[in-house]
Amino acid sequence: MDSKIPLHVGIIMDGNGRWAKKRGQIRTQGHLEGLKAAKRVVKAASAMGISYLTLYTFSTENWKRTADEVGFIMGLVKQYLRGEFDFYRENGIRIRHAGDKNGLPRDIQKELEKVLEETKDFKGLQVILALNYGGRDEIARALSRMIKDQGAKPGLFSAEPVKTELIGRYLDNPDVPDPDLIIRTAGEFRTSNFLLWEGAYSEYYISDKLWPDWGEEDLEKAVDSFGKRERRFGADYAHVRNS
Ligand code: IPE
Ligand code: IPE
Ligand code: MG
Repeated sequence: MDSKIPLHVGIIMDGNGRWAKKRGQIRTQGHLEGLKAAKRVVKAASAMGISYLTLYTFSTENWKRTADEVGFIMGLVKQYLRGEFDFYRENGIRIRHAGDKNGLPRDIQKELEKVLEETKDFKGLQVILALNYGGRDEIARALSRMIKDQGAKPGLFSAEPVKTELIGRYLDNPDVPDPDLIIRTAGEFRTSNFLLWEGAYSEYYISDKLWPDWGEEDLEKAVDSFGKRERRFGADYAHVRNS
């Protein structure tokens, strides 16, 4: 495997429903298997020395699904947050959150806050759960926080035009570096509102495999592909090679 390990990987974990359909099962069965895949991939990412892993768990648009499906996913999230503490501790995994916490059911908010607090000093892999997350929503909430801050820090906007760095500081996790690699499973070529701001220069990797079939080897393949890319960040070839 290539030794260039991305610092931050984001995953759009897609295809749970199709996985279940292919087997003549109900969609929720796919989510159950998807949770198992998430555990395998978190373990693998931790072993590979990745520092940050953002998992797209539930989007701001996923509320459009049936109440049964939404309820089932929320139940799984709760189970994952509550039941895996030993795993987090043994592997030094810190759980973080991206998204609108206030829009989550009260019991999930509580469970989330508990896990964030209990794992905050763990020094290994940071797993960022993008839960009730939307890229546009994150930017809108960042602007709302900026406007609120203006009262406390007059002059915040006096230096116009507003710098992109300033907006960056108001995002959900401003200390987390931008994702180097964004993976999407189940063969779809779209962002579906994932890390719109932070993903400006991310390398994309699309896998045809459905998320419940994902495991360590798939992550290794994606990271290997990332290692072979030449990132330019808008600069010219020669500039990149000499820097
Ligand atoms: C991803 O799988 C899980 C979530 C969006 C919560 P899907 O449920 O979107 O699966 P498909 O796309 O219908 O196969
Ligand atoms: C993106 O998948 C959201 C998550 C993986 C949580 P979707 O299945 O919701 O995206 P679309 O609807 O295919 O764009
Ligand atoms: Mg989908």
